[in-house]
Amino acid sequence: MNKPYVVCHMFTSLDGKIDGAFFGAPESGPGLAEYGKLRGFYGCKATLYGTTTMRGTYSDGLAGILPHSHGAYPKEDYIAHSDVDNYIVSIDPKGVLGWNSNYIEKKGRPKAHVIEVLTEEVSEDYLAYLRGFDISYIFAGKETLDCRVILEKLRDKFSVEKLMIAGGGVVNWSFLQEGLIDEVSIVMAPVADGSPTAASAFERSDFASSQKPVALRLKEVKQIEGGGLWLRYTV
Ligand SMILES: NC(=O)c1ccc[n+]([C@@H]2O[C@H](COP(=O)([O-])OP(=O)(O)OC[C@H]3O[C@@H](n4cnc5c(N)ncnc54)[C@H](OP(=O)(O)O)[C@@H]3O)[C@@H](O)[C@H]2O)c1
Repeated sequence: MNKPYVVCHMFTSLDGKIDGAFFGAPESGPGLAEYGKLRGFYGCKATLYGTTTMRGTYSDGLAGILPHSHGAYPKEDYIAHSDVDNYIVSIDPKGVLGWNSNYIEKKGRPKAHVIEVLTEEVSEDYLAYLRGFDISYIFAGKETLDCRVILEKLRDKFSVEKLMIAGGGVVNWSFLQEGLIDEVSIVMAPVADGSPTAASAFERSDFASSQKPVALRLKEVKQIEGGGLWLRYTV
């Protein structure tokens, strides 16, 4: 299979949570800074996020009701012109995310062109909406996502040789359970969160084809200032 090298890079609490109050604890600060620096260490030109993460942090919320496009665009991959060679890959199987640009610029991060990952469930109106912003999109599956197809298309159509998958837990599990992740990088804060509801680094979902645990092999451990750890595992 012609796929990129895939690293799953996450910032977690001591109890494996990826969201919640522990982010605000002063003791999480050094780990958060290290988490950001390690993005540079991996040097991936594309970073992939799940729908929930995109909606909360990177997209412009949800698209809402769209005007009729009268089937102007076929359900085929579309590669838009991009001024940059960095990408944010947005998992959006049903085509619900809202946009105001085909680029995402976040403080301390390179400007990135948006690639939407869709299934054939998406409406033609949503394709017209994406074309309006000149956002790239690829199809990967009829109703459920085919993670292998996503990786093959990122490699073939966008020349992505190293991909970072950076949450949330559902998307991480989707790729891990299929054996598609090469390395897991966890920056762990020395803080327990205790939330019974916050997402964890890996979350099984109903659409996951496998519910079996996945064992990893420890590659490296580094202590971070203040008592956090950077854990590297190969799969
Ligand atoms: N600490 C960190 O490093 C870090 C990094 C990133 C995110 N986060 C946090 O993680 C939390 C979100 O995590 P999450 O696990 O709830 O959500 P997520 O992985 O961001 O998104 C899950 C959603 O993506 C879609 N999806 C993902 N994989 C799919 C698949 N294989 N097939 C079909 N649809 C798929 C589904 O959307 P639909 O059900 O709508 O179709 C699913 O509900 C947020 O609070 C965010 O802030 C933390």
